[in-house]
Amino acid sequence: TRSSWRLIGPAAELSKKRCRLMHSSLGYDADVCLFYVKGEFFAMGARCAHSGGPLCDGDIEEADGVLKVFCPWHDYDFDLRTGKSGTSLQQQVYEVKLEDGNVYVKHVSQPADQRR
Ligand code: FES
Repeated sequence: TRSSWRLIGPAAELSKKRCRLMHSSLGYDADVCLFYVKGEFFAMGARCAHSGGPLCDGDIEEADGVLKVFCPWHDYDFDLRTGKSGTSLQQQVYEVKLEDGNVYVKHVSQPADQRR
């Protein structure tokens, strides 16, 4: 599996919005949401593992120290850190790093439906 760090942009700018939708050259299903919640960035597949709902538009809640996004379509929950859902579905998540004030996401160069 090939993956590489992709420069997204300056953290100061990206932290102004709760979520950004990043389009992938691999197509719609590989688009990524970059969330900024409680001082931390999280990257997750933008299309819900259930039926493709727009996770960027989901509500975010914290329960027992776990940050979750709730899909706006059928309210399935996904852990922002692990992509795990209480429904047993798994959403793709991507590593994020900060370097010199810039945000990078490790984007795997393979179709989003070939999960690790
Ligand atoms: S599409 Fe996200 S919960 Fe159904």
